[in-house]
Amino acid sequence: MNASTSSPLPPVGPALRLGVLGGGQLGRMMIQEAMNWDVRVEVMDPSREASCRHLTSRFVQGDLKDAEAVVAFGRDLDVLTVEIEHVSVAGLQALADSGVEVVPRPAHLGLIQDKGLQKQAYERWGIPSAPYQLIEGIADVGAMGFPIVQKLRKGGYDGKGVQVLKSAEDAAARGFDAPCVLEHAVDIDKELSVIVARNADGASAVYPVVESVFNPEVNLVDHLMAPAAISEALEAQARQLALDVVTSMDFVGLLAVEMFLDREGELWVNEVAPRTHNSGHHTIEGNVCSQFEQHLRAVLNLPLGDTSPLHPASAMLNLIGAPDAHGTPVYEGIKEALVLPNVHAHLYGKSTVKPHRKMGHVTVTGPDVPSVQRDVLKLREGLRVSGTQSA
Ligand SMILES: Nc1ncnc2c1ncn2[C@@H]1O[C@H](COP(=O)(O)OP(=O)(O)OP(=O)(O)O)[C@@H](O)[C@H]1O
Ligand SMILES: [Mg+2]
Repeated sequence: MNASTSSPLPPVGPALRLGVLGGGQLGRMMIQEAMNWDVRVEVMDPSREASCRHLTSRFVQGDLKDAEAVVAFGRDLDVLTVEIEHVSVAGLQALADSGVEVVPRPAHLGLIQDKGLQKQAYERWGIPSAPYQLIEGIADVGAMGFPIVQKLRKGGYDGKGVQVLKSAEDAAARGFDAPCVLEHAVDIDKELSVIVARNADGASAVYPVVESVFNPEVNLVDHLMAPAAISEALEAQARQLALDVVTSMDFVGLLAVEMFLDREGELWVNEVAPRTHNSGHHTIEGNVCSQFEQHLRAVLNLPLGDTSPLHPASAMLNLIGAPDAHGTPVYEGIKEALVLPNVHAHLYGKSTVKPHRKMGHVTVTGPDVPSVQRDVLKLREGLRVSGTQSA
C-alpha cells in the first residue's frame, strides 16, 4: 500500500531496527512492550533528559523539526514511527523515498500538524466536525461572531494554542495574531475518544469509547473512564465514526480520534492524533492488547491485537505536577494508593517536575463504573507530585 520502495521488514527480534521520533512517556511505554519482542528501539529527542533516554539501544539528541537531523537519525533504520506529531515531514518523506518504512506516512503527519488542513479534510470526507473558518490573523478574528473557539493552525498541544474568545474586546486583548481556525463553540456534553489501529494490509481494530473528564483550570484531562457513560447506539456510532476517519484518510498506524458529544446527542470529530494517546493509557491493564503493543503491531504490519476490555470498568488518572512543584519530582501517596488491589502506577521518569507537567498516571480497574469512580476520588485526594524545590 505504501508507495515507498522498501523491502520486507526483518522478522520481529533484535535484527529489526525500529526508530521513534520523540522520547517522552509515550515512547517509553512503547519500549516496555517492544522489549517483550526483543525489539531494540532507537530514539531521537531534543532533550538529553528524555524519559526514554536510558531505555534505548541508541539515543540521539536532536531537533525533531530539523529535516537533516531526522534523515541522519533514520537513514539506517528499517522502520520509523513517532510519539509526537510535531516532526519534520520533509525529513520523513526523504527517508520514505529512500526505502525506510515510515509509519504513519509523512503526508498524514503534514495534514495533522495543521488544524486548518484537518478541518478541510473532514469537510471533504463528510466527517462531522464543528463549523469553522480559516483566518490569517487578528484582523479577521470576528469573522464568525462571538463566543468563538480560536485555534492556532500549527504548533498547539495540550490545549495551549486553543482559547475561547467571548467578545470583540476579549479578542482584541487576547486573540492570537497568526493563521488560525475559528470554530463554532460546541455545547459539549461529553468529550470522547476512540483509538483505532490500521496496518498496511488494511486490517483495522477499534478500542471501546473512552470518556475524558477535564480539569477546567488547566484545560488538561483530569481522569478518564472506560466505558463512557453513553448508550450502546452512541458507542457503536462513535466507533464507526473513528473507522470512517481512518478509512477516509487511508491511514496506517495508530490514530486517536477526539470527539465531542453535544447536548443534542450529536457527535463531532474535534481532532486526531497519529500516535498513542493519553486516553489509551488504561489499556495497559484494562484491555487484552494495550495501545502501545497495538501501535507496534500496526507499525510493523503484524496482525492487530484484541481490543476487548479485561474488566467491566477502567479509569486513568494523570499525575501532574502540583502548582508549586519544581526540582526533582517527589511522588506522594503511591504507597497508600497501592493498598487498593486494583491500582497500577506508572511514573514517567522525568528528571524535573514543573507545575501541571504530566509526570505519570495511575490506572484503576474494577467491577463497575461507580466503584472505580469511588477509587479515583480516593486516589485523587492522596496522590500529589511535588518537587524538591517546592515552596
Ligand atoms: N469547537 C469547540 N467547542 C468547544 N470546546 C472546544 C472546541 N474545540 C476545542 N475545545 C476544547 O479545547 C480542548 C483542546 O482543544 P484541542 O483538542 O483542539 O487542542 P489541543 O491543543 O490539540 O489539545 P490536546 O493536545 O489536549 O488535545 C478540547 O479538548 C475542548 O475541551
Ligand atoms: Mg485535543
